[in-house]
Amino acid sequence: MGSNGRSNNGHGQPLYATRIDLPADIRAQVIASLNNTLAATLDLKTQVKQAHWNVKGLQFYQLHELFDEMASELEAYVDMVAERVTALGGLALGTARIAAAQSILPEYPLDILDGKDHVVALAERYAAYAKLVRDGIQSTDDLGDADTADLYTEVSRDIDKRLWFLEAHLQTGEAIVAMVQPEEDAAEPAKAKKTTKRTK
Ligand SMILES: [Fe+2]
Repeated sequence: MGSNGRSNNGHGQPLYATRIDLPADIRAQVIASLNNTLAATLDLKTQVKQAHWNVKGLQFYQLHELFDEMASELEAYVDMVAERVTALGGLALGTARIAAAQSILPEYPLDILDGKDHVVALAERYAAYAKLVRDGIQSTDDLGDADTADLYTEVSRDIDKRLWFLEAHLQTGEAIVAMVQPEEDAAEPAKAKKTTKRTK
């Protein structure tokens, strides 16, 4: 620990002293995960804005509005993730240059116009981001930071919902890959439940 209350977490970034009851090595690992997520979230937000500005076609207006709503939601996550980093004594790495360098997402295609192409491009990126966030739930839970796992869970639930919104634009009858039949054994408890009398 330096005299200014800083120590190095091994990634060339400062780790500040805090009264939080999580060990420094755990905080450093959670902070690294959060900064990785921060880069991807900033990147995704700018890509959704790119779609918001440039989408064309018959569904222009509804997609233009939907993409703006999604960008605002991501802006809120940017703040949540960055402030969890600082709450844990870390340095939030949130400039555009860092986001571009660290993001797991591919660059947004600049040669698409039609609404469907933008929806596909965003669905691919939301799916990759959803996986990153879901992995974050597990890894931070394993590290014993239930609060960060909860933050990830909140984001994950909303991202899955947005992925559904995007994919609903693309799904037709052919999108059904399997008809799921309940197995006989699994159907039994439901049957039993049906005949259970209510007690009040
Ligand atoms: Fe706008």
